Amino acid sequence: MTSTRTRIPVILDCDPGHDDALAITLALARPELDVLGITTIGGNSTLANTTRNALRVLALLGRTDVPVAAGPDQPLVRPLETAPEVHGVSGLDGADLPEPASEPRPEGALEFLRATLAASPSPVTLIPVGPLTNIGLLLRTYPAIAEKIAGISLMGGAMGAGNWTPAAEFNIWVDPEAARIVFRSGLPITMHGLDVTHKALMGLPEADRLDAVGTRVGHVFADLLRFFTRFHVEKYGTDQTPIHDAVAVAHVALPGLVTTRRYHVDVETNGDITRGRTVVDDRGHPGEPPNVDVALDIDRAAF
Ligand code: RIB
Ligand code: CA
Repeated sequence: MTSTRTRIPVILDCDPGHDDALAITLALARPELDVLGITTIGGNSTLANTTRNALRVLALLGRTDVPVAAGPDQPLVRPLETAPEVHGVSGLDGADLPEPASEPRPEGALEFLRATLAASPSPVTLIPVGPLTNIGLLLRTYPAIAEKIAGISLMGGAMGAGNWTPAAEFNIWVDPEAARIVFRSGLPITMHGLDVTHKALMGLPEADRLDAVGTRVGHVFADLLRFFTRFHVEKYGTDQTPIHDAVAVAHVALPGLVTTRRYHVDVETNGDITRGRTVVDDRGHPGEPPNVDVALDIDRAAF
């Protein structure tokens, strides 16, 4: 058992969402990680739904001790666009989840992040797996807080094609202005884009394995995985479902799980058809020093 002295302090920022729910559960299950709290943002569903869903997952896990703090109800400068066709009207459809058994923190995500980072005896690793509104707002509002951030392991972006538009992955597309603040922050960033998350696949066999665990948590996640897989069968014709967000958590717990290359990455905020594109320079153009470790491969069996 890893002693609490050596566990990595992390804060998970998410928009539950089926893969976010798995990421929350993985983070709380790994002995290497000390989850200081969860912040929520709109994306897969409205802020009210993603916050309720985070609380429902914690109620399911018996972890209502974990603080949850909600962010603003829309991106920095654009209206919120959600993805009900992927995650359902509630944002976490398809399973028998309990109702929340705890309340979000009254101070909200920005103040919770600032105070938790300031109070932490050592720098904290942030794991954002939704639109980057909360992290962008934190860095813009309290620039000095960056010294208490050990690094950012995020799910978002892509070197190749997007999944919300041909150019952009959903998380970056929802709030490109916030994403640009994060990518230009100078902080150590590992970007888990679609290039790696589309190799972090699970499907109906894994749902059966979760059922076979025989616990309520196992049955609920088996049902959530079946629901999430249904979308991928309909949209992509395959029952292999990318568990996007869990990759960003697994990387922090198990360094070496993903293979990264260091490239310069910036975010398009003005393009009509390219809004939210993570522009990854793998040719080392002069004047654009590498600033991001881009994850490109994963040990799928270990994952
Ligand atoms: O593009 C995949 C990302 O969008 C994941 O974080 C998923 O939860 C959705 O937020
Ligand atoms: Ca997410």
